[in-house]
This record gives sequence, C-alpha cells and structure tokens, in this order.
Amino acid sequence: MNYNKKSIEDIDVAGKRVLCRCDFNVPTKNGVITSDKRIVAALPTIQYLIAHKAKVILCSHMGKPKGEWKPELSLKVVADRLSQLLGQEVIMAADVAGEDAKAKAAALGEGQVMLLENTRYIKGETKNDPELSKELASLADIFVNDAFGTAHRAHSSTAGVADYLPAVCGYLVQKEVSIMGKALANPERPFVAILGGAKVSDKLNVINNLLEKVDTLIIGGGMAYTFLAAKGYSVGNSLLDDTKIDYCKEMMAKAEAKGVKLLLPIDTVVADSFPSPIDGPVSVETVNVDSIPAGKEGLDIGEKTRALFADAVKSAKTVVWNGPMGVFENPTLAAGTIAVAQALADSEAITIVGGGDSAAACEQLGFADKITHISTGGGASLEFLEGLELPGIACLQDK
Ligand code: 3PG
Repeated sequence: MNYNKKSIEDIDVAGKRVLCRCDFNVPTKNGVITSDKRIVAALPTIQYLIAHKAKVILCSHMGKPKGEWKPELSLKVVADRLSQLLGQEVIMAADVAGEDAKAKAAALGEGQVMLLENTRYIKGETKNDPELSKELASLADIFVNDAFGTAHRAHSSTAGVADYLPAVCGYLVQKEVSIMGKALANPERPFVAILGGAKVSDKLNVINNLLEKVDTLIIGGGMAYTFLAAKGYSVGNSLLDDTKIDYCKEMMAKAEAKGVKLLLPIDTVVADSFPSPIDGPVSVETVNVDSIPAGKEGLDIGEKTRALFADAVKSAKTVVWNGPMGVFENPTLAAGTIAVAQALADSEAITIVGGGDSAAACEQLGFADKITHISTGGGASLEFLEGLELPGIACLQDK
C-alpha cells in the first residue's frame, strides 16, 4: 500500500473550513476520561490548523452507540478536556451534521475550534452511507484524517467523506504510518516481533505476514497454547483453538523454511481455573510446557520463558510488540507481560508497541517514555502489521 500521502502541510488551510477526523474514542469511567492519550496525540494537528487560521471542525466516534443517541457516549467530555489542553474554547455541536452543526460551522471564525457529536449516533456512519458522507462534507472545504486508531474502518467520517472533499492526513497518521511503515518495510535487524493475546484466530494474518519480515517471532499469551498443542504437548485446560492446530503447524514449517527463529514458551504459570473476578485471588504454580497437568490452565509465561524472550529482545535492533503474555489484569498473572514491557523499556532498539492491552501495560508500568512509539491504534495497528490496506489512509490524496 502507498503511504506517501499529502498532509496538512501540502494544502492551504487558511480561512478554510477543515473537517478533521480524530480518534477521540477514549476510555471513561462514570463520565470521567481515564486516559486522554488519544486527545493529546491529536493536539499537534489541531494546533497546526489553529495556527494556520483554519476554521476547525473536529469529529470522532466514541464507543459503539449503533445509531442510538446514547448520552453517556456524548463527546462533550472530550470537548471539555480538549479546551483545557488547547487553552481555548471548543464549541460543542448538539448534533453530527444537523442544523446545529451546520449553523455553528457556518459561524466559525479563523482559529476557532468546534467538535461534532459522536458520529456513530447516526446509523449511516458505520455503513459508510454516501448521504452522511455528503452531509459531513457539506460542512467543510477540506478533510483531514488524523484518526489512526480508526483508519481500519471504512466509515463515512473516516473514508466516505474523502469522496467529496480534498483529503489529506494529519501529523498523527503521518507519524504512525512512517514509524510502523519503516519498521516493516526496511527494519534495522535483527527484527523481533512479539505477539500475545488470547486467540490465534485474531492474529492469523499477522503471524503469516510477520514471518515474511522478521528474524525472530516470539509467541506468548493465550495463543501460544495452540502452537504448543501443534508441537504435540498436552496443554491441560489452557486456551486451545483446535481448528487452528494445522495452521500453527504450517506457520512453524514456514518459519523453519524461511530461517526465522520462532520462540514459544518453555514454561508456564498454571492455575486450577481462570480467576473470577479477573483480578481476584488465584493460586498458581509454574511448570514446564511439556508437563502441564491435566485440568490446569496456563495463564502466563513462566520465569524461564521471560528470560528467554528478554534475551531475544536484548540483541534486537527493531522490536514490535502486540498483545499481552498472560492475564495481566491480575497481579499474580502479570509478570510475563511486565517482563516483556521491561525488556522493551531497557532495549536500545527501535521499539514499537501496538494494541490496546500492551500499550496500556507499558503506560501503567510507567515505561511509556522508554518506548520509541506506542501506537494509538488497537485494531488499526494490527491490520497495519497484517499488511492490509487501511481505508482511512487509502482514501487520502497521494503526494
Ligand atoms: C479503537 O478503539 O480501536 C478505535 O477507536 C476503533 O474503534 P472500533 O473498534 O469501535 O471501530
């Protein structure tokens, strides 16, 4: 895919109405934002637009209201936080592309900023409905996509609107694409990828694509047990996708044929059952992967595996990590994920973390500033690693 797209610097925004799609899908608890990372990540583009006298119309989705007007998913909390961060008022529209949004967009002055309501309040949004795309486009003269986290969605506000307006990317999309694109296309070697998370089926194409590019592929997390089963081990009650055993065998054969080192866990932390609640007490022991007792469930990588994985990271020049190594929400089962985050933080390599859980782990552990790049994308960064075309980027003008 061609990522050489025009940016906000390649178009004259002065005096123009600029519709800027951001990913303001931020976590909230009782109406309070618990991480404003995605809002902060959008600031460089918004500040550029303000400084260059654009009339800035921001839009985003929040959650999955599925066409219903759910007040708890209003973007008003984002407008409030954003206006604190910008030090200026962010005018909140009462609708998405309705009468209020139209009137406020028309009255907007140069350097002023407004935010539309949650685009997913309108049913047409996720269907990429041309009528909604046209309505959104009618508010503005230029479309800027800076929502990397939503770039894998072909929705009206992420892609459809680009059919009706000159469309360019913002700084966040540019940064995500250039760092991750370079790592994949032209990595400094050794290039190590670490994949975790629950299911093999979520990462099928990622594994396949990364085997074409990396020197070492490390597999941990729930998905490792299907690989271990494919190697002939009994995995007790651990997560097992038996429809994917042949796929795992195929991937192991591919790794061997390509000379890619495929590292799987050598020991694992097991318990009688999955903790409930997830962060509740759990009694564990560590066993080698060739002796997982029947009836026990593997829930984290063991100590020897942590050392093995950390060692592979130590000699790497580029590391990409996506997905936790165990049930890291539980302090007893978090050591594997912490060890990987620590290995990346200690590494001199270019380190890239994608995916909500691994990014959250790095942030919670206070390692964020020791990682080269933490992607704002969950699904989007996975699809990027898969080598897929992201519709929110494909729709932008080429340089
Ligand atoms: C995300 O949180 O990954 C993005 O905002 C996309 O959200 P979605 O999975 O609801 O499309």
